[in-house]
Amino acid sequence: MTTAIIGTGGIGSVIARQLASGGETLRLSSADTKSARTLAAEIGRAAVVAAGNRDALQGADAVVLALRFTVLKGVIEEIADPLTGKVVVVPSNPLTTDAQGNISRVLPKGQSSGEVVAEWLPTGARLAMAFGTLSANLFESSSNRSPEPAVLFYATDDDRAGEEVERLIRTAGFEPVKVGGIEQSGRLEVGGDLHDLIIGPAEARSLIGGA
Ligand SMILES: NC(=O)c1ccc[n+]([C@@H]2O[C@H](COP(=O)([O-])OP(=O)(O)OC[C@H]3O[C@@H](n4cnc5c(N)ncnc54)[C@H](OP(=O)(O)O)[C@@H]3O)[C@@H](O)[C@H]2O)c1
Repeated sequence: MTTAIIGTGGIGSVIARQLASGGETLRLSSADTKSARTLAAEIGRAAVVAAGNRDALQGADAVVLALRFTVLKGVIEEIADPLTGKVVVVPSNPLTTDAQGNISRVLPKGQSSGEVVAEWLPTGARLAMAFGTLSANLFESSSNRSPEPAVLFYATDDDRAGEEVERLIRTAGFEPVKVGGIEQSGRLEVGGDLHDLIIGPAEARSLIGGA
């Protein structure tokens, strides 16, 4: 199966490496193509660099928008038409970093990235919020954990997106656990009770009901 990854920085590059090592074929794009080219060369035959963000979607079963929250809306507008019917996976936390490196939230408390992204997407796009619950380092070091796999939580309102994101999470070496619909996605974000947890499936399922 083929997945497009738009954004090949801190988290996009780790998602790409883990998916490729699980057998996924990738189409990569980034702002100026340099990071996408470097990553594709590292991954090898499983990854190709697309001619641009729209081209990345050609023949892809799903797309991961591994982008900072502040550029997401513009990229969604750029690629809106081909997103209809596609599974769109978004790991973005609603944060921004200023020139001094200070990180702050860009949405009011109580409003999640997932709820806002759902409004930005065209009708027919199938949104799942996933792959943003762990820092890139933790994500890489926790994949294919043995004997018990670590969990990656996801949120979606769309059954088809749920099936596809579960497949991607397993391909990346984790066990998928659904937290609920997009209205629950704030639990996955920085500051949410399910963020940055390395736990197994039984503990994860007990936490889902425990909020
Ligand atoms: N890093 C983490 O540990 C982590 C963990 C969980 C969730 N997240 C979330 O994931 C998102 C991405 O974070 P990050 O740390 O990966 O950010 P990052 O390192 O800054 O990477 C952002 C990527 O987006 C690309 N990009 C920017 N504008 C673009 C455009 N118009 N079209 C295509 N690509 C574009 C950049 O391209 P260039 O490479 O060409 O500059 C870069 O590859 C954030 O919302 C963050 O909250 C990050």
